[in-house]
Amino acid sequence: PQGTRYEAEHATISQGTVESDHAGHSGTGFVNYDNLIGSYVEFTVTAASAGTATLAFRFANGTTANRPMDIAVNGSAVAAGKAFNGTGAWTTWQTTTVSAQLDAGPNTVRATATTAGGGPNLDYLEV
Ligand code: GCU
Ligand code: CA
Repeated sequence: PQGTRYEAEHATISQGTVESDHAGHSGTGFVNYDNLIGSYVEFTVTAASAGTATLAFRFANGTTANRPMDIAVNGSAVAAGKAFNGTGAWTTWQTTTVSAQLDAGPNTVRATATTAGGGPNLDYLEV
């Protein structure tokens, strides 16, 4: 997907840390979610006009277990338990997408871990 890239390391992070030890990430690093339910990354995404947008999340999951997350836009759920499956290695980054309605102007996009494993490592959101 093309569009504006929002690096996770510049987003609002709750219960996660910015790290850079796994190669292949964009920008200066990625967010390592704490391995627990409720850890999140929240982006502020600016849309020129209201309408349907594709939210593309780039992530890595070096385990074989899904690390599902709830995706919410402006506080409303748009994809509950969105799958972030294993990518084969912490250095293997993949993109998964969610379609959502955005308002004109700033919108919050929050990705919250829903299982005890926490989220995947999150590189960026592209809109
Ligand atoms: C490893 C890996 C981290 C990852 C973590 C996890 O420690 O180095 O980048 O976040 O596993 O399982 O969540
Ligand atoms: Ca982690």
